[in-house]
Amino acid sequence: MNGVDGEFADAVIAGFRGTPKSVSSRFLYDTRGSDLFEQITELEDYYPTKAEISLLDRYSGEIAELAGAGVRLVEYGSGSSRKTDRLIEALPSIASYVPIDISDSALSQAAARLIARFPDLAVYPLHGDFNQRIDLSAVPDGKTTLGFFPGSTIGNLTRAAARDFLENARPLLGRKSAFLVGVDLKKDLNVLLRAYNDREGVTAAFNMNLLVRINRELDGAFDLEKFVHEAVWNEDEGRIEMHIRSLQVQSVQVLNQRFDFAEGETIHTENSYKYSLEEFQALSRAAGWEPLRSWTDENGLFSLHYLGPAS
Ligand SMILES: C[S@@+](CC[C@H](N)C(=O)[O-])C[C@H]1O[C@@H](n2cnc3c(N)ncnc32)[C@H](O)[C@@H]1O
Repeated sequence: MNGVDGEFADAVIAGFRGTPKSVSSRFLYDTRGSDLFEQITELEDYYPTKAEISLLDRYSGEIAELAGAGVRLVEYGSGSSRKTDRLIEALPSIASYVPIDISDSALSQAAARLIARFPDLAVYPLHGDFNQRIDLSAVPDGKTTLGFFPGSTIGNLTRAAARDFLENARPLLGRKSAFLVGVDLKKDLNVLLRAYNDREGVTAAFNMNLLVRINRELDGAFDLEKFVHEAVWNEDEGRIEMHIRSLQVQSVQVLNQRFDFAEGETIHTENSYKYSLEEFQALSRAAGWEPLRSWTDENGLFSLHYLGPAS
């Protein structure tokens, strides 16, 4: 298959054979998906970006004091790296910046922008899946390594996977490391649902773009008029779920295979787990980190956690 991303093909075929049908949210971020995500961050209904930026504006100085001089900054799921400017500016004599992202387009645009804005900054972009083994051997050591995982992307992982992720990050970041994690908080259901089902339909376009990507890259035959975006709250799991719902009984070909959809059947495309401050602190401790500081914005929407190695 020329030009077909084998991993994407395998994930879609396996996900469509499962019950319920699902595809990992990391496949939402092709070039158009990354552009749409950036548009989402500008929406009035999407509070997480604004709340996290307000936290970074307020506490970057304190974070820089905790981290010290000569930091190697490693960011997971860096996307546009827009928020990171605040940290880069605040961290004294930062040694290097390592953005890691699955989206090649977002990563290369961000690296070019940062190199233009901070000509003295050593930037080492890493293209790949942050759940796979990450090799930092080409990046010179800083005095300490500060991991940065903003955007509540950690909420896209199940609680067990989030714990494993934090645990695996410890040896990678090293003994003299700290980890700054942005985590969305539990809150009023209407506020949550509006953020994932915005009035301008940008989140819907972001979610439905998965079908566009399957049609383009996997020879798919989805008729987008016959599916709709859906965001629902799952109380038992404490998470927002994004789905793509079939409006009728239908069959769709993908890579010469037929997949049947019942009326109302969905493809589960993303989870966004929400935490209380205490829940995330407990999860961090279970993964071998010590929550040294936790901050929330003035509206109690979003949290930033500064984790140090457990003694
Ligand atoms: C919710 S967005 C957050 C973007 C940015 N950090 C922010 O805070 O606005 C998630 C980002 O993580 C990236 N991403 C998602 N899953 C990934 C994975 N498994 N490995 C690497 N990057 C991933 C996406 O491409 C996207 O840039």
